[in-house]
Amino acid sequence: MLGMPSSTLSTLCFATLALCQSPAQPYTPIPDPIPPGLTFLYTSYALCANPLYTTQGPNGLRTAIPVLGGNVTGPRISGHFRDLGADWGTTDIQTGIFSADTRYNLLTDDGANVFLRTSGPTQENGDLHLRILFETGDKRYYWLNNVVGMGTFSFSFSGSD
Ligand SMILES: *[C@@H]1O[C@H](CO)[C@@H](O)[C@H](O)[C@H]1NC(C)=O
Repeated sequence: MLGMPSSTLSTLCFATLALCQSPAQPYTPIPDPIPPGLTFLYTSYALCANPLYTTQGPNGLRTAIPVLGGNVTGPRISGHFRDLGADWGTTDIQTGIFSADTRYNLLTDDGANVFLRTSGPTQENGDLHLRILFETGDKRYYWLNNVVGMGTFSFSFSGSD
C-alpha cells in the first residue's frame, strides 16, 4: 500500500480561497501544482471468511465479508489484523462493479492499534484500487493519521474455506 502527502490538494484549496476573498483583485497565476509523491508503506494479506449475506438496498447490493486476520509486512509498519472487521462492499447493479467498503483493525508488532477504513472499485484486471484512511492515537504512528493512502488489492482463494 502506498501513502502520499496532500501538497497538491492544499495548493489548489489555497488558490480558491484567495479568489473568494478578493473578487476585485486580478487573478494571479500560481505555479503548476506538484504531483504528490508515493512512499511505500507495507504489503498485507487479509484473511476473509465467506460472505455472510448479500442484500439489495438503496446503494446497490451490499455484501458483508468478515475479516478474520492477516498480516502486514513493510518498511514503515508491520503487524497483524485483528479478528475484528469486515468489508461491507457494494455492487453497482448498473455496471456489476464491486467496490470495497471496509472497517478493520491492525495491531502493530510493537503494540499500536490502528483502525483502517478502505474503499474503492474493482478494475478491469480484477484488482481493486483502494483509498485508505488510517486512525490511531498511538504517538509512534500518529503520522498515519495524515497519510492519504492508496492501495491495490488482489484476490487469492484458498480451498479450505
Ligand atoms: C502473511 O500471510 C501470507 C498468507 O497466509 C503468507 O503467505 C505470508 O508468509 C505471511 N507473511 C508473514 C511475514 O508472515
